[in-house]
Amino acid sequence: MKIEMSKTASILLASLLVISCQVSCQNKKNSVDKESSLKKAYSKEFYIGTALDNNQINENDSAVNHLIVTQFNAITPENIMKCEIIHPKWDTYNFDMADKYVALGAKNKMFVVGHALIWHSQLAPFVRKIKTKDSLELFMTNHINTIAGRYKGKVGGWDVVNEALNEDGTYRKSIFYQTLGEDFLVTAFKLAEKAAPGTELYYNDFNIEQPKKRAGAIALLTKIKNSGARIDGVGIQGHWNIEDLPIKDIEESIIAYSKLGLKVMITELDLSVLPNPKQLVGANIDQSFAQDPKMNPYAKGLPDSVQMKLAQRYEELFKVFLKHKDKISRVTFWGVNDQQSWLNNFPIRNRTNYPLLFDRNNKPKLVYEKVLDLKK
Ligand code: XIL
Repeated sequence: MKIEMSKTASILLASLLVISCQVSCQNKKNSVDKESSLKKAYSKEFYIGTALDNNQINENDSAVNHLIVTQFNAITPENIMKCEIIHPKWDTYNFDMADKYVALGAKNKMFVVGHALIWHSQLAPFVRKIKTKDSLELFMTNHINTIAGRYKGKVGGWDVVNEALNEDGTYRKSIFYQTLGEDFLVTAFKLAEKAAPGTELYYNDFNIEQPKKRAGAIALLTKIKNSGARIDGVGIQGHWNIEDLPIKDIEESIIAYSKLGLKVMITELDLSVLPNPKQLVGANIDQSFAQDPKMNPYAKGLPDSVQMKLAQRYEELFKVFLKHKDKISRVTFWGVNDQQSWLNNFPIRNRTNYPLLFDRNNKPKLVYEKVLDLKK
């Protein structure tokens, strides 16, 4: 009887071992290796950041939380510090999510970015109705003093002004420009410096690697510097496409901006694998195009050939970033995983895009290994 029992037990034990090995082997293949971490691999070069949405700030999903804290050492709020959310009415501020976001960064000892103080998009409706110079200046003063002041010493760097330029390098005719002229930038940087001394201050924009827009950005940055206002860095957003990665322009821009004495950052990196509508102008969030199945070719999955191309493109990029590591202080991805990416809805709603290093189940993609391999 005794022998019989132990025989059964050993059979049971053996089969348990087989099953658990299969599961762990499978997990090993599909999950991040315990030791591997983007932030650790690049710790000597630059911060590796990500942008957080509401669910992530609320720490709702343990798998995503785990990725955030093990892979990244810098965070940017994807939406919750934008005017329409944090300052919806003249006298109303909504700090709930922003406070949580800042606390999450402190808890995990991350570099916390503030995004974005002055931007023409995602403005609260009341701001668009402001007509006079004095009122708009008062709005800017209240907005920057209250928000940058609240997070003084907690936010490591602010995107003070976002997207002030057109593609040809001229000033965008935003409400700020139309009402206050180009000096609105200098005003914003001076206010931010006063409200949050010791915090890094940045200008952030998309397509500023493109020669014409780059020339406009260099003039704008020089103007801010010459005004006596402090500016510490420039953010190249980095919303690019695998079919059209402007690698030469990117490298030239990193060098040119660094020559101005500024830290260079890639602040919103993602590489779309989907076709772009012809009329699309960079990451201009005001643009939107009709849905069309032809524009959504990978709804059922990404072919290996495209997966490979994505990995190659990221490799090319990170090679350039590594070559210029002395000039680059941070590379931030615009999101943690493909599920979260805004590119599933921009510039066409309801598409299936694959622009980041982790897939919809938080598993590392081939591109993750490639980016890590560059550091081996
Ligand atoms: C995007 C967010 O990811 C979306 O969730 C939102 O609907 C629109 O804005 N440039 C920026 C970012 O500076 O703030 C934008 O983020 C993407 C383009």
